[in-house]
Amino acid sequence: MPVTVIIGAQWGDEGKGKITDSLAGHVDVVARYQGGDNAGHTVVHGDWMLRLHQIPSGILHEGVLCVLGGGMVINPKTLIAEMDELQTRDAFRARMLISGRAHVIMPYHIALDGASEASRGAAAIGTTRRGIGPAYQDKAARTGLRMYDFRLPDDKLADKIRAAVEDKNVLLERLYEQPGLDAEAIAAQFVGHAGRLRPYIGDDSLALAESLEAGKQVLFEGAQGILLDIDHGTYPYVTSSATVLGGGLSVLGVSPREIKRVIGAVKAYQTRVGEGPFPTEQTGEMGARLRGTGANYWDEFGTTTGRPRRCGWLDLVTVRYSARVSGLTELAVTKLDILSGIEELQVCVGYRLDGKTLDRVVPPVEDLARVEPIYERLPGWQEPLGHSRRFRDLPVNAQGYIRFIEERTGLPVSVITVGPGRDQSVER
Ligand code: GDP
Ligand code: IMO
Ligand code: MG
Repeated sequence: MPVTVIIGAQWGDEGKGKITDSLAGHVDVVARYQGGDNAGHTVVHGDWMLRLHQIPSGILHEGVLCVLGGGMVINPKTLIAEMDELQTRDAFRARMLISGRAHVIMPYHIALDGASEASRGAAAIGTTRRGIGPAYQDKAARTGLRMYDFRLPDDKLADKIRAAVEDKNVLLERLYEQPGLDAEAIAAQFVGHAGRLRPYIGDDSLALAESLEAGKQVLFEGAQGILLDIDHGTYPYVTSSATVLGGGLSVLGVSPREIKRVIGAVKAYQTRVGEGPFPTEQTGEMGARLRGTGANYWDEFGTTTGRPRRCGWLDLVTVRYSARVSGLTELAVTKLDILSGIEELQVCVGYRLDGKTLDRVVPPVEDLARVEPIYERLPGWQEPLGHSRRFRDLPVNAQGYIRFIEERTGLPVSVITVGPGRDQSVER
């Protein structure tokens, strides 16, 4: 059972990139399985802050195979920009494999994402406008372009792209009353992208099977979070892919018997970008305190879109729910340092709804918007935590906060992060 999985157990941005980077030093393969460049995973190396949107966060480790898995939707232009940034710094250490089954995000997907969000008005989802939903729509409709198409001869690929753009122009022009896109220019641009990415395209499922047969260690890196899962998340305020463990197994074609550890990344408080109910949201002073001012890059502003993240108290109902639907075996609690200096902390341990108490289900959004959070109060601590490396070095109240999370979720906390740097972690 050589597979470890890291999954966001909230609404994304839990610090998965940092944890993946630190675990990647001990594995042979790191595989992203879903999402696209809506994800923004931060890895900090000395004074270099790397924001990875599509390349797995193991890329800085020599010899590691980084897989862009078959459940992803890939934006070739932004992927090439990521590769260029790494190559300029001579930091493209790992090897890279792009699944031929992954779908391609085209310019019309991005245009359609923007147009449909605008047309929804007040009912907008608050997507990243990266074309994620429309690209997955084409996948389900069996009309999408896949990375395997980038292996076609240039003229055949150009024909396919031209036809697809013309098709989507009908939607853009007639449904959304927007100008159509230039099919010829897009075809030429994507033939160029295909030339650059072709050497990396292959069979991810087979590569993983061969690695597992050879006894290699594999890490799956989830994107987004379990509450953004298309089935188990707060629908319709979700992304368009399966973020849960089962989604990863399905799209990568790996047996559940291979799974050893499933680590849920949980921020020590709660954040959300985009729309949708958020029971523990703090809109006043405490919300602003948790968000930060934007002066530090780890303040709560979106890695991909720069939008301010909504912030609130830790919600253990959502964590327990995530643990159940994704088989979490342990938690990684991140950004504990952010809570230093708050006198009294609150943690949501249940919801009150129509006279009943819920403590392990996240109800449909209509009900989730009406729940009243039940809080427990815990004493805070004043000391900064950035230099702590052992659990016993943490202030007693910070230790108590972690023990409270363990008790109320029934899961061990195996790692606690106390800063964005690679070494700023406390092993439990
Ligand atoms: P991801 O999408 O789950 O990989 O998370 P993001 O990278 O979008 O957001 C997490 C942010 O918090 C990034 O700016 C990280 O550098 C930063 N970060 C991660 N862990 C810690 C931590 O323990 N403390 C602090 N202060 N920042 C952290
Ligand atoms: P990482 O991997 C936080 C949110 C968007 C929006 C909803 C749908 O960095 O944790 P989409 O563009 O996917 O159709 O948007 O999902 N969202 C994220 N929020 N972190 C992410 O990724 C996200 N990816 C998408 O804000 O609410
Ligand atoms: Mg992120």
